[in-house]
Amino acid sequence: MTGDAMLIQEVATRDGFQIEPVFVETADKVALIDALAATGFSRIEVSSFVSPKAVPALADAAEVFAGIKRRPGTVYVALVPNPKGAERALAAKVDEVNLVASVSETHNRANMGMTPAASIEGFGRIMETLKGSGLSTNATVATAFGCPFEGDQPADKVLAQVERYLALGIEGVTLADTTGMANPRQVEALVARALALVPAGRLTLHFHNTRGLGLANVLAAYGAGARRFDAALGGLGGCPFAPGATGNICTEDLANMAEEMGIATGLDLEALIGLSRDLPRLVGHDVPGQVAKAGRPSDLHPIPQAA
Ligand code: COA
Ligand code: ZN
Repeated sequence: MTGDAMLIQEVATRDGFQIEPVFVETADKVALIDALAATGFSRIEVSSFVSPKAVPALADAAEVFAGIKRRPGTVYVALVPNPKGAERALAAKVDEVNLVASVSETHNRANMGMTPAASIEGFGRIMETLKGSGLSTNATVATAFGCPFEGDQPADKVLAQVERYLALGIEGVTLADTTGMANPRQVEALVARALALVPAGRLTLHFHNTRGLGLANVLAAYGAGARRFDAALGGLGGCPFAPGATGNICTEDLANMAEEMGIATGLDLEALIGLSRDLPRLVGHDVPGQVAKAGRPSDLHPIPQAA
């Protein structure tokens, strides 16, 4: 099988670092983002303009944006929860804001300290503020495939939130499986319905590998017509306000799968593997990604010698 190219947005320095107990030094974050950009990413979610009390690991978002070299052709994105975050993102000259609200009321209260309706009301004010700024906008429906507190979330409710985003003039939409509750059949059905509202070029799928279904869900989404996916180097990641959260799908594992299947990603897989192998130095522990440990399928081993 070969197929249409897949766009992978790198989120390790945002979704990945937000849950790490260690504070990764600003200079290390900047160096990693620049190195990631050099491997060919057209989109990198750099950091979050959230409360530094809520997520101390990303308190240096403005310094990180000031430190990175802007590679032409790469869109540098920041997660924004509320109007104050949007003002900070604007001042930091981000290319795009990613506004986040959960479909689950319980998760949004735990994560954002307000109801989803209050979050979305804030997005309306943010869209007013950003008018004429030239910034691109994306909004995420978190817990779109299930909530760790409430369980299943009705697809109709998820799609109604997508429609509210579009009605505000938000350009891109992400459906996020915040704690890896999605399964391929559910993904196929929800993506098919979402694509009736948002074209594939503006729809992103955000999967976590919490239950080992991450890449299966990517294939289900791809089969249903989705072409844009979030992934984190090394498989880092997780929401600090969702019990049991674990890593995003792993960038280099996803890029390897795509390459083996003849699906172009535009990424330098060898360079990605090199960067992933350096992650334990930054975060102080082993990371879940598998291809960086096993090597690529083409990395053959010497033939054992007979005794
Ligand atoms: N950036 C920095 N500071 C912010 C901020 C932002 N975007 N939004 C609010 N604050 C500050 C306020 O200025 C205020 O500061 P003060 O105590 O010095 O006066 C303080 O935070 C409380 O403000 P309030 O509006 O009452 O916010 P809150 O405490 O209800 O928190 C959020 C709401 C959304 C800011 C917070 O829950 C948050 O940052 N959540 C993000 C969680 C996250 O990143 N999850 C993972 C990714 S999905
Ligand atoms: Zn996530």
